[in-house]
Amino acid sequence: MRLHERHSIVARSVDDGRHEDRRYIKTMASLLDQLQVFEDGAPAECFSELVATFPKRHVGELLRAGFRFYQTTFWYPLDEPPKNVFESVISHLRPLAEPSSLVTGVEWWFSVLRINTTPQWILPCHFDRSDLREKDAAKRLYPEKGSVLFMNSVPYGELVVTDQVCTKQGIEPKQPKEMRFVRPRMNRYVVFPGQLYHGVIGRMWRPAEQRRTLRIALAVNWWYERPKAAYLRDSRECLTALRLA
Ligand SMILES: [Fe+2]
Repeated sequence: MRLHERHSIVARSVDDGRHEDRRYIKTMASLLDQLQVFEDGAPAECFSELVATFPKRHVGELLRAGFRFYQTTFWYPLDEPPKNVFESVISHLRPLAEPSSLVTGVEWWFSVLRINTTPQWILPCHFDRSDLREKDAAKRLYPEKGSVLFMNSVPYGELVVTDQVCTKQGIEPKQPKEMRFVRPRMNRYVVFPGQLYHGVIGRMWRPAEQRRTLRIALAVNWWYERPKAAYLRDSRECLTALRLA
């Protein structure tokens, strides 16, 4: 099935009225069942190299310098051999994520959050999309799959994935009927359908723990085609952009 055919099916089922809309939402709800968690995302040696290349100390320095992690994303076409440790890790994640043959590449970035700043949502629920600056929902595209490789184990900061999707009527269902919580654990890898609403939750009812306060993860979105976002860079620029070169 071609990309435009997929989109037309989704658009038609939303447009066809309440019955079709209910069927659409039911389909979306079952998408949450496709969420998968792998305890060993990357091979141990490759994972160690990843952590050594992008150590917590360096991440902390970038954070204090105001580095914009969420708008420093990289495009890695899957038909190119890996040229650095980040691309090597992604190559190892590919058989776990199992993207379809329509996927041509990944957008990847580092997700960095302080977990003790608030007991509430650390990263409010959102949709990953082709361009964070695009305000027109009709122009948004969603990755086939979203995924996260946790680089460290921390006591709070679960990834929360809901059964909610974006339709022409807004977010449906209005309140989540189902949610999955995935606790950050070193080298744990989670994959979920790319159109699902998700966020990161704080310590909530749990007492504040002062140690291990930085949650670091490698986010990898699997796309049919390269998003048009202005902030998306070629993966080969990553060492410079991440101030590693
Ligand atoms: Fe996200």
